[in-house]
Amino acid sequence: MENYHGATNISCDVLDSWFEVEHVDILSVGGGPGSDVCGVLEYLEKQAKRRNIELSVDVIRLDIEDQWDEVFNDIMERFFPWVNYRTVHMDVNDGFGLISGEKFNLVTASYLTSELSSYPNEIATVVGPKFSMNSGMFVGVKR
Ligand SMILES: C[S@@+](CC[C@H](N)C(=O)[O-])C[C@H]1O[C@@H](n2cnc3c(N)ncnc32)[C@H](O)[C@@H]1O
Repeated sequence: MENYHGATNISCDVLDSWFEVEHVDILSVGGGPGSDVCGVLEYLEKQAKRRNIELSVDVIRLDIEDQWDEVFNDIMERFFPWVNYRTVHMDVNDGFGLISGEKFNLVTASYLTSELSSYPNEIATVVGPKFSMNSGMFVGVKR
């Protein structure tokens, strides 16, 4: 629900540009079982129906662990069989070498920063990781 709500904050002109080319590339960092991916896909599905446009979506789920793979694959096959997806296992602390050169329209990172222990202060200042039980959400647009 939180991730669906986050997706509803994507601005209209950004959504329009995706539907114009009928394609979106999504990267989910620390994707786990896929909550953030599902939230976004559910919203895109609704938008596609409303606009009567068939949208093709490619998802890369990046995670350090493989324990969520089966659950994620199962969810994707059951609920989003129209989406192309793949999983890349890597530790974001080591950089993004395995997906270097790939481009994405949307990058999601939900409940990830609380899992990371060593990132530079300037990243913490910009991201504002959650140190309490309150939850926050933002959508950033890179132009
Ligand atoms: C709390 S879960 C959040 C999962 C999902 N994004 C969500 O919102 O439900 C954090 C995820 O980040 C992954 N993760 C933790 N440290 C990581 C790292 N250094 N590199 C890549 N993934 C990491 C964990 O394996 C886990 O799947």
